[in-house]
Amino acid sequence: MTEPSRTVAVVLAGGIGVRVGLGIPKQLIRIAGKAIVEHTLEALDASPLVDEVVIMMNAGSIHELDHLLGSERFRKLTRILPGGETRNDTTQLALAALEGDDTKVLFHDAVRPFIDERIIRDCVEALDRFDAVDTAIPSADTIIQVDEQRHITDIPARARLRRGQTPQAFRLGTIRRAYELARLDPGFTATDDCGVVFQYLPDVPIFVVDGTAENMKVTEPIDVHIADKLFQLQSASLALDTRPDTLPDLGGKVVVVFGGSHGIGESIVALAGDAGARVHEFSRSTTGTDVRRADDLRAALDSVASAEGRIDVVILTAGVLHISSLVDAPADDVESTIDTNLLAPVLVAREAYRHLERTSGQLLLFTSSSYTRGRAGYSVYSATKAGVVNLTQALSEEWSAQGVRINCINPQRTKTPMRTSAFGEEPEDTLLDPHDVARVTLNVAASDLTGQIVTVQVAAMRNGG
Ligand code: CTP
Repeated sequence: MTEPSRTVAVVLAGGIGVRVGLGIPKQLIRIAGKAIVEHTLEALDASPLVDEVVIMMNAGSIHELDHLLGSERFRKLTRILPGGETRNDTTQLALAALEGDDTKVLFHDAVRPFIDERIIRDCVEALDRFDAVDTAIPSADTIIQVDEQRHITDIPARARLRRGQTPQAFRLGTIRRAYELARLDPGFTATDDCGVVFQYLPDVPIFVVDGTAENMKVTEPIDVHIADKLFQLQSASLALDTRPDTLPDLGGKVVVVFGGSHGIGESIVALAGDAGARVHEFSRSTTGTDVRRADDLRAALDSVASAEGRIDVVILTAGVLHISSLVDAPADDVESTIDTNLLAPVLVAREAYRHLERTSGQLLLFTSSSYTRGRAGYSVYSATKAGVVNLTQALSEEWSAQGVRINCINPQRTKTPMRTSAFGEEPEDTLLDPHDVARVTLNVAASDLTGQIVTVQVAAMRNGG
């Protein structure tokens, strides 16, 4: 077989997603700050094996994707076309828009955002040997066949059963021919694309490559939660993968750190410099900058923008922790906890946005493990840290169209002056080194994650080493 000239990935996004039942096409549901279809597009566009990407979008919502076309982020995306009534119609509309018999075409469900490079490669390479390729995983559940009375009529041997996923990949000429024959068949019933080849071109072998459990199809309401958790795991694995000695390359980037005079902030300032960034640090003790005052923040950011011409990353590490029951806490402590830990992130977000919009930059906030569960003795602190997480998630959605990212670092038990003054001396080996937290923070700063809560644990850092 001659070498293919090119590979086109077709994102099938023509459906509505009735089963998820959210009132918007499910491919537009936002997870980790981006529409599901955008995650899928990202994976396909990033593959060195894919030359062109076409999206077939539900006609009623096609305008929702206008901003993706022509964007720097998706250089291979050439067209967003309306999908059809049925999934098979959508495929046929895509076929009508494509040219060349030898072209390799990958049809992929928009609502399978966890497709990875290995699956793409296996599909593209298998097309050198086969004209049709499916992606599937073994079934953990026993598959049974039932009749209308709900009586079992067959229990096929599980070892040979697979659960079909996508991509389904073809030489364009083959899938075109299969659909031509299907169109002539008055008894044609809906099936997936491999099913059309299987039925109408029975002599064409369909090779099956391994999918993954993660390559799930967001179908039922619970799948939205599962997908959300899978994205969180991805960012957790970023923290795990960050070896204590790795720093990203931040050459040419301008980083602003609020609260950088001690603790984690101080480590970030030092290591961001080592990573090649130009770093500006502001805090009450060093520059008289009060993060609870919008005017102070604006002045600080404007001064950096005018000196450097750009701001790529803004990091807020300032935080206060007072240990006391709520009723016994001095009013000043309650107020400063809320103002420093929650009001300041809100104000920094408002002031930093216009700078970050210019550079498609990133805001990094800090939470604490108490965000998942309020703790006696620091109720207000816990509440503000939960608030920061919600702020991160919400802003990741508000800012995603402009390419501005926001993430939140959740360092566990870090050896900082704040912690020592609150909890006293603790065993060294149960505490994170602030430099390790800083490294993970800078790796997140260099990533394209958004809307993520990245947990950094002592054990994680050891494993990473
Ligand atoms: N699809 C398509 N054109 C259609 C119907 C579905 O391109 N006319 C796409 C969907 O957008 C989805 C993929 O095929 O990415 C898988 O289909 P499915 O999960 O069945 O999606 P929906 O039809 O959207 O879901 P539901 O059956 O719950 O309505």
